[in-house]
Amino acid sequence: MKGTSPDVEVHSSQEPWWRRGVIYQIYPRSFQDSNGDGIGDIRGIIDRLDYLVWLGIDAVWISPIFFSPMADFGYDIADYRKIDPLFGTLTDFDQLIEAAHRRGIRILLDYVPNHSSDRHQWFLEARSSRDNPRRDFYIWRDAAPDGGPPNNWQSEFGGSAWELDAATGQYYYHAFLKEQPDLNWRNPEVRREMYDVLRFWLDRGVDGFRVDVMWHLIKDAEFRDNPQNPDWTEDMPPHKSVLSIYSCDQEEVHDVVSEMRAVLDEYGGDRLLIGEIYLPIARLVAYYGRDLRGAHLPFNFRLIEAQWDARHIERQIVEYEAALPEGGWPNWVLSNHDKPRIASRVGRDQARVAAMMLLTLRGTPTIYYGDEIGMNDAPIPPERVQDPFELRVPGRGFGRDPQRTPMQWDNTVNAGFSTGSPWLPLAPDKDSFNVEAERSDPHSMLSLYRRLIAFRRENDALNLGRYASVEADSCVLAYLRETENDRYLIALNLGPEPAVLETPGQCRIVISTEGKAEGEIVEKKLHLQGNEGVLAEMMS
Ligand code: GLC
Repeated sequence: MKGTSPDVEVHSSQEPWWRRGVIYQIYPRSFQDSNGDGIGDIRGIIDRLDYLVWLGIDAVWISPIFFSPMADFGYDIADYRKIDPLFGTLTDFDQLIEAAHRRGIRILLDYVPNHSSDRHQWFLEARSSRDNPRRDFYIWRDAAPDGGPPNNWQSEFGGSAWELDAATGQYYYHAFLKEQPDLNWRNPEVRREMYDVLRFWLDRGVDGFRVDVMWHLIKDAEFRDNPQNPDWTEDMPPHKSVLSIYSCDQEEVHDVVSEMRAVLDEYGGDRLLIGEIYLPIARLVAYYGRDLRGAHLPFNFRLIEAQWDARHIERQIVEYEAALPEGGWPNWVLSNHDKPRIASRVGRDQARVAAMMLLTLRGTPTIYYGDEIGMNDAPIPPERVQDPFELRVPGRGFGRDPQRTPMQWDNTVNAGFSTGSPWLPLAPDKDSFNVEAERSDPHSMLSLYRRLIAFRRENDALNLGRYASVEADSCVLAYLRETENDRYLIALNLGPEPAVLETPGQCRIVISTEGKAEGEIVEKKLHLQGNEGVLAEMMS
């Protein structure tokens, strides 16, 4: 086996690293440009590794960096084993692995198995004739009797999910763009090829994968029509007008996931498998797999989708905790490259409370790059729109460019992201909200993130400890994290008005998102300012 291992302390408790660890998502186009072409790259990431060490990150998940025509900015891969020249070379990548591991940081890649690019060699061959040996690598169907698409399945980016290939007279299925034909995971040869792709990167030393749209991999064998969604309204994305019960989340997908997991396990027990899955809790937790032989972490997007209301969120936490299979490890996410940023959804003041929530709930947190400095979704003028979703369904607020703008490092040109012309505009408040400005300010969002990460790392109650709800009024969310030896109370005011929490005993304030009263002993009543979160050590 090639590749270096991370230079990290092995915990005596034998807990897998990702239970204590904090994951950081890098959208590589927007993190750091090193060659002045306005697009972030691998060398840029290497240059910023020391920042991630300083922040206290354990692992980085990098959105796709593979050879791609970029119809969906790398989620359309034309060669799974090649780095796209925009991002660098395989040599750069090997150096990234080496440089990250030397610093104790693990590297997780984005694995996009559901679909390839329509320029992938397999698809070029598949579409060349009906009897090409690669034909069955993709999903082909005859037209419906009326000559239209084979069924009513919808593309997530709008319109039918079927594209007619005039030359061979059949439709192919694409859950996303027509430039992203879905691979046929019922074909064992596809599985073999795609598992070898995993091995290719594992051999180079990667520490795991985030699997793109894991719940899409297997489709109904009979291609039945999806039922209409009676709750669909005009403000929802078009594809939600049908319930994707036949196009997604089929029972057989769990065999595929466990096979992927088995490939990772060939490389020792600590390679991590994360699944991107947007499903209700009961369906989501099935992706841990039978006997936990599935994904280690099926991404939990409750906090991305939740309305920001204390009682609602508490219910989500409790339901999620209760639904986890025995031994299944939880995880939490506030933002990602597909959804509006947390600071834009709840406001910057409340985003501090959200940070405390993310880093004190039971489960592995994933931080989206820039959230730690309070980045907002940036306004994108119509002529600079890049996202294919926005281009296809314009003006409805579905576009994903606003949350993908360049990282704000300092107040030099382009916030230190690039000396060239950035592929997306920078946020207008970049001079106030950037790493350099916030690093030296003990009250900044960045300082808060760093403190919380460090505290979480040092205290088993916070990383591995149990979760227990604490009764609280209206806008306060309160819970305990505890081991046999330590107990911490987390009290989060999700509203702008002051609030009081009856504490379960005497406690000492350790961290306040408002920086006030730290060290103070609270006997019974904890007074919270509006938008304040408090982490306190229980003393009785
Ligand atoms: C996932 C990715 C998203 C991409 C889609 C198609 O949802 O996160 O960015 O557009 O899959 O690959």
